[in-house]
Amino acid sequence: MHALHAQEVAAASGGACVVTAMVEPEPGRRERAAAAMRGRQSSELHVFESIDQLLASGVSDACIVSTPTDLHRAHAWQLAEGGQRMLLEKPLTGTLADDREFAAQLDAKHPTAVMLAFQRRFDAPLAYGKQLMKEGAIGRVFKVVSILEDSNPAPDGYVSGGILPDMSVHNVDEILWMLDGVMPERAAVVGNCLYSRKLSTAVEDFDDAFLYLWFPGELSAQVSVTRNHVSGYRVETWLFGEEGQIHIGRFEHRHLEVMVEVYGRRDRKTPIEKRVFSARDYGQPLPEFVDRFGAAYKAEVEEFVRRCVAGEPFAVTHRDGVRAMEVIDAGMRCVITKESSGQVG
Ligand SMILES: NC(=O)c1ccc[n+]([C@@H]2O[C@H](COP(=O)([O-])OP(=O)(O)OC[C@H]3O[C@@H](n4cnc5c(N)ncnc54)[C@H](O)[C@@H]3O)[C@@H](O)[C@H]2O)c1
Repeated sequence: MHALHAQEVAAASGGACVVTAMVEPEPGRRERAAAAMRGRQSSELHVFESIDQLLASGVSDACIVSTPTDLHRAHAWQLAEGGQRMLLEKPLTGTLADDREFAAQLDAKHPTAVMLAFQRRFDAPLAYGKQLMKEGAIGRVFKVVSILEDSNPAPDGYVSGGILPDMSVHNVDEILWMLDGVMPERAAVVGNCLYSRKLSTAVEDFDDAFLYLWFPGELSAQVSVTRNHVSGYRVETWLFGEEGQIHIGRFEHRHLEVMVEVYGRRDRKTPIEKRVFSARDYGQPLPEFVDRFGAAYKAEVEEFVRRCVAGEPFAVTHRDGVRAMEVIDAGMRCVITKESSGQVG
């Protein structure tokens, strides 16, 4: 992720910012990433083995932090204490207890240090769907369905803290953002291990899970996450309203196209609105999430750089990470598995 984000910085700032340094403790990765970065930029690149070295060098004002989730808190705090603002990959820390503690620490000492990397907020198809919903295209919304399905297991050795904190944190933040911050009152999870966990040494609770959310009034949201969508990456959002439905993204094996469709009620001749967004083509094989969200990652880095240059607070912060984790944690306290489900017969 860090190499991907880093390549956007100079272009995103119109040349006002450059990547001055990278930190990578693992020698092979360090050499490969440094060579790739140097191939892309003419300005000097310092290469460090540790954050200590980076901070001692004084060559940066802001950072992009894309280290393993269980290290986010320590790294982000060290960088904030060292005077850096940062774009920090999701999730904030991986657990609600740590999120809350860390957010309180940040609020007290470095309230504007962290922009949390929820790239869906910068995704044009999702933003268009949200705009149509807010303009009243489908009437009162009563259900949101958000689906994130990987075609592969987590990589060997990956430490995620669970499929829900790792994957559904994107969906939950998307739903809270779609609904302008309204929080659900209750949550429940159904989880299962079906297939892909056998293909990787990553240890994770489930490879397939469903999160159901009850909001105040007649409104629900449903999140489906899995690492078993073997035919390719599936990212879809459905907004159900009393007057119609909006569908954002459709799995069709056309991974560089994202379609937004609006349907009216069955008995009305509402024209179906359809717009196809072209995903960014990097012209090289990249992880499937980059195909779908490449333009959103770029827009996210642009926003990060713009706010840093202007000295403005970020619009997506550690507090958004805590909110999403509060929802996930509530679901994880009410998990139905095969053993705890109702017996048939
Ligand atoms: N926003 C998204 O769509 C998205 C997609 C993938 C991953 N992520 C997030 O990005 C983060 C990283 O995931 P990944 O798949 O790139 O993991 P990864 O393991 O491929 O990369 C992590 C990198 O951090 C390096 N690292 C480890 N310890 C370090 C230290 N002390 N100092 C500096 N670098 C250190 C590792 O050597 C490695 O190169 C995770 O938190 C994950 O949730 C977000």
